[in-house]
Amino acid sequence: MDVFVIEGGRQLNGSIRINGSKNAALPLMAAALLTDEPLILSDVPNLSDIRNMTRLLTELGIESVSESSEHGQSITHRVTDPTQSHARYEIVRTMRASISTLGPLVAKRGSARVSLPGGCAIGQRPVDLHLRGLEALGAKITLDGGDIEATAPNGRLIGAPVFLGGPFGSTVLGTANIMSAATLAEGTTIIESAACEPEIVDLANMLNAMGAKISGAGSPRITIVGVESLGGTTHRVMPDRIEAGTYMCAAAVTGSELTLENCPLDAMMSAVDTLGHMGVHVDAVGSDADPMRRSCVISRAPEIKPVQITTQPHPGFPTDLQAQFMALLCLSNGNSVITEKIFPERFLHVAELCRMGAQIHRQGATAVVTGVKELTGAPVMASDLRASAGLVIAALAAKGTTIINRVYHIDRGYENLESKLAGVGASIRRADAEEFADSAMSH
Ligand code: EPZ
Repeated sequence: MDVFVIEGGRQLNGSIRINGSKNAALPLMAAALLTDEPLILSDVPNLSDIRNMTRLLTELGIESVSESSEHGQSITHRVTDPTQSHARYEIVRTMRASISTLGPLVAKRGSARVSLPGGCAIGQRPVDLHLRGLEALGAKITLDGGDIEATAPNGRLIGAPVFLGGPFGSTVLGTANIMSAATLAEGTTIIESAACEPEIVDLANMLNAMGAKISGAGSPRITIVGVESLGGTTHRVMPDRIEAGTYMCAAAVTGSELTLENCPLDAMMSAVDTLGHMGVHVDAVGSDADPMRRSCVISRAPEIKPVQITTQPHPGFPTDLQAQFMALLCLSNGNSVITEKIFPERFLHVAELCRMGAQIHRQGATAVVTGVKELTGAPVMASDLRASAGLVIAALAAKGTTIINRVYHIDRGYENLESKLAGVGASIRRADAEEFADSAMSH
C-alpha cells in the first residue's frame, strides 16, 4: 500500500490543468448501455473508479478502448454482447456508482440484476429513490441474494411523473439513472425534485446529442420525451469542479498564487463565493468564451477569515468540498461553523486533522473549527476520498512531515495528485507504506 510523504510550508507557483470530472464521467460511461452505436468520451480522468466502471461495462458486454487524445484520455465504447445484465457484487462493492448501470440496463435490455451497494465510509447511502423512480416507470423490482432485480414488463419502461425528493434533498445518481432510463421509455417522464448538479446537465447534453429529448436539466423539473432508440456520439466530459476546488484550497492554504486551467467556474459559484468571504480571490483570466472551461488565478489576503458553511445540493456548497474547506479553515483567524446536510456522518477527517493540531469540536452534523496559528505534520489515515484530500491540504501547510496512509482512497478521484502538486513546488512524494511501517502501526 502506498503513502504520501508531504513536507509542509512550501509555496506553490505555476499552473495546474483540471481533468475531466469523475462524477460526470461515470454515468456518461453507463449511458453506453443505451445505444448499439459507438460512444466516444474524451477527457475521461485516469482513475481507479473509471477503471472499475470499465471492468463493469466489459462484464455487461461493452468493449472499451482507451487512447490518448487532444483532450486527455479518450474511451470508445462499443456493444459486443447485449445479452449481459448482471452487475456483480465483486465490482459494485468497489464502487457505488455501479448503480448508474441499473436504469440504462432495464431501459435498453428490459431487465437488470445489479448488486445492492452497501454502506460506505461517509454514511448509509440508500438507493430507495432510484428504485422508487424505476418503479414509477413501470419496472418490477425485487431483491434476491443481495441483488436488485429489475424488469420492464413487455420489455419497455413507460414514461410517468417521478418525484425524487428525499430527506436530504434530491439524489444525483438517482436523477442520472431515471433520466437515462426515461430516454427510451414509451411516452413522457417528468422528474420533479431532480438534482440540479452540473454533472446532470452534462449527461443530458450528451444524451440529447445521442437523440434523446430532454429539457429542463439543471432545474428541479426535467422533462424527457421517450424515443425508440439512441445513436452514438462523441462527447468531452466537463471539467472536475471538485478537483478544481481542492487545488483552490491548496493554493489558499499555502498563501500561494496558482493558476488553474480548464476550470468549470460557472459550476463553482458557491465555493468561489465562500473563498471570497475567507479572503481568497479567484480571478478568471483571458476572455475564454466557455464559462465551464476557464483559466483562473488563486491568491489570498494575508489572513484567512472564518466563515459559516452549510453543505447543500447544487447550487449550494458541495459536500465533496467540505473536508478540504475544513482543512483550510483550521488556519483561519477565528471560529468557523460547518454543517453537513447531505451526509451527516461525513466527518472522518476531523479526528485526523486534530492529530495535526487542529481545534475542531463536532456535535452531530455540525463542526466548530477554531483557527490555530500552525498545524504540525503527523502520520494520519486517509478514509474516504474527500476526507483524504482534506488531509493533503492540511499537510501542505503543516510544519514538518505528514505521512498519509491508504492513499488508494485519493487515487479513486484525483489523477496524479502528487505529480500535479510537486509540479507547482509542493514537497510531496508517493512511497511504499513499508518504508513507514512504524508510523503507520503506531497510528
Ligand atoms: C453523488 O453521489 C456523488 N457521487 C458523490 O460524490 C456526492 O457526494 C453526492 O452525489 C452528493 O453530491 C457520484 O457522482 C459518483 P446522492 P450520490 O444520491 O448520487 C440520500 C465523491 O466524493 N439518498 O445525491 O450517490 C443520500 O443518503 C462522491 O466524489 C437517499 O436517501 O449521492 C444522501 O444523504 C462521494 N436515497 C443524499 O440523498 C437514495 O435513494 C444525496 O445523495 C439516494 C440518496
